[in-house]
Amino acid sequence: MESGLIKIIGISSLMRHAGDGYAQQESNSRTLLKYALGLLKEKAETKLIDISDYPINQCRQCYSTSENLCHYPCDCYDDPINDIVLPEIGSADGIIFASPTFNGNMPPILSALFSRMLCMEEFEGTKDPLVAKVGACIVTCHEDGAMATANSILNNCMEYSFIIPPASIVYHKSSNQRSTIFNKEALAQDFLVLKNISMMIIDVYNMCNLIKNSDIKWGKYEYSRYPASDAEKHKTFRYNQEFMRYLEFIGKIDDDDQ
Ligand SMILES: Cc1cc2nc3c(=O)[nH]c(=O)nc-3n(C[C@H](O)[C@H](O)[C@H](O)COP(=O)(O)O)c2cc1C
Repeated sequence: MESGLIKIIGISSLMRHAGDGYAQQESNSRTLLKYALGLLKEKAETKLIDISDYPINQCRQCYSTSENLCHYPCDCYDDPINDIVLPEIGSADGIIFASPTFNGNMPPILSALFSRMLCMEEFEGTKDPLVAKVGACIVTCHEDGAMATANSILNNCMEYSFIIPPASIVYHKSSNQRSTIFNKEALAQDFLVLKNISMMIIDVYNMCNLIKNSDIKWGKYEYSRYPASDAEKHKTFRYNQEFMRYLEFIGKIDDDDQ
């Protein structure tokens, strides 16, 4: 059983901000995320992380060559995702993702972040630090695709063995009949979205509380790993040699079976 204040972070994945000289407008999903974290402030430690503040390097897929090549900290990059964003994720009890809809899906920066999370099989001495984190999302769209985006975000969370509470999706759709210039007006008229956010943060908070104060050992999907060699760990490995070693390993299992 752990003690201490529950930590719930918000990860905002949009690219537009008031005064940025480009879109020149604060984003709706970020506004809603700020509202959600504001409601949680009295009960939990909260933090809003704008991933667009950080250059996000793409996952180099070491994992695809061998699972054992991929570990935290990711040694492909010395970047703020490694030093700032992943540690915040590792130490949070719950994460609320805020996202616009890009062509019926999440924006590339959020997808890139989910890929970079693959290295977190251990964090500050905790094995499988992502298991049983609580995940939820707030998604906005103009005409369609918010639910598909939300499903995709929560699907990524489930890949990492997060726990998803009942009220885990809040979405706001602006209008399919009016220009995006009216989207702020549409958000102001959406009384349901604020009600749904209140329900979501209660569920996220309660679920974090339940998990933090229980001794349950949660399960997780186990990826096949064969024993890591020092060469793999330190990325001095030679693919062909290691592959031969793997075949020998498999051969040994077959021999033992007979
Ligand atoms: C590249 C791009 C793709 C988009 N694709 C969709 C879409 O598939 N469906 C939709 O309803 N809105 C789409 N939109 C509109 C945004 O999802 C919508 O305006 C959203 O509310 C913006 O989020 P924000 O206010 O948090 O920045 C797209 C916008 C951009 C810039």
